[in-house]
Amino acid sequence: MPIEFEQATADALALIGDTKSLVRAVFSGRRRNMQPHAEKIELRPVQIKDEIKLQVIEIAGTTSKTSNIARDSNSIIEHMNSGFANILIESVTQTMTIRFTKKGDAQVFIEAAKNQQSLSHDKQKQRMLDATDPFLREVGIADAHGRIKPTKQDKYLQVEEFLRILVPALTSAVAADHIEVSDNKPMTIVDHGCGNAYLTFAAHQYLRETYSLIKVIGIDIREQSRRRNSEIADRLGITDSIEFRAEAIAATEIDGADIMIALHACDTATDDAIAWAINHGSKLLLVAPCCHHDIQMQLIETPEPWPIILKHGILKERFGDILTDAIRAQILRIMGYRTEIIEFVGDEHTPRNIMIRAIKTDAPLDQTAVDRYEELVSFWNLTPKLSQLVKLPV
Ligand SMILES: C[S@@+](CC[C@H](N)C(=O)[O-])C[C@H]1O[C@@H](n2cnc3c(N)ncnc32)[C@H](O)[C@@H]1O
Repeated sequence: MPIEFEQATADALALIGDTKSLVRAVFSGRRRNMQPHAEKIELRPVQIKDEIKLQVIEIAGTTSKTSNIARDSNSIIEHMNSGFANILIESVTQTMTIRFTKKGDAQVFIEAAKNQQSLSHDKQKQRMLDATDPFLREVGIADAHGRIKPTKQDKYLQVEEFLRILVPALTSAVAADHIEVSDNKPMTIVDHGCGNAYLTFAAHQYLRETYSLIKVIGIDIREQSRRRNSEIADRLGITDSIEFRAEAIAATEIDGADIMIALHACDTATDDAIAWAINHGSKLLLVAPCCHHDIQMQLIETPEPWPIILKHGILKERFGDILTDAIRAQILRIMGYRTEIIEFVGDEHTPRNIMIRAIKTDAPLDQTAVDRYEELVSFWNLTPKLSQLVKLPV
């Protein structure tokens, strides 16, 4: 229900000021016609000597600035009022999401949760995954003592950061009734191109703590993946709520899922995954694409004055990547999804660190989005793979 801006910020301030129960607060997104001074601000309580302070991390581009302030500092409200569209506050017992609307009022969602507070001052993030969860050992990320293997650190962090984005996106989607939570019907999650199912198992283990009824399905074209992952699920005793199938994404027989995730599904397998989600009405998509060849190979004739850029091989490759993901995001927008492209993990952990996050809102068709899409593909003379897999209203 919309409430007044002042009331929402007062509620948020009260929760943030309660450092006994605050786990973290995140300010993100941009309100219409406003320009906050950072892309994102994270606050969390930290113990410094005998005092509890609020650690504030302001993230802008690739830089971040950390400071420690009093819990009643005026700068909290200044940050909050500087133009952020979304406020997420996690306390030990609840998660509150505030979205400031274009009209200037606020949509507030509150959900019971079990979040853990950590007051340690070092910059180590609170982990999403319990390093001692047996699934990490079974999938080969942790050793027999529950320590993350050095060779698997990058994959572990990719999965952690993927979950860090999935969880609040799902909380907001549930709060906004885009995804239904029911006692009779499981929430369904499909992981396309799951490979060794690091992400599939991680999502399962994490989400089953919050949502009592879930069904997670990992799809990979390789029978060997299906066999290996099914055996692990068997050993973990979770075959009731997780399943693996050896199928091509485009030909899978499962008939839909609330949430579709895909981490590095190769080349146009990412397009297959997005198309499948659109065609089956998935409500939330989180996709971290892998290599891009489809559009790269179509960048044959370069219209003027673009040779200035594209005569350099490395720039042409990066441009092809950007064009590919921008086109995917635009198609999702046209098909009724609110879509963003974000960085989900530092590039030191994978060069493929872009994520497309899309939530189905069924907003009315935006003809400008269609016109822009058509202009772009005709300018570059492209037939994107994804455009052939969905029925675009063009
Ligand atoms: C780079 S791996 C990523 C695996 C896993 N998601 C991860 O991040 O560890 C890509 C996986 O996609 C699978 N794959 C590629 N094309 C596929 C398709 N069309 N249908 C189903 N699986 C596919 C491959 O077999 C491979 O296991």
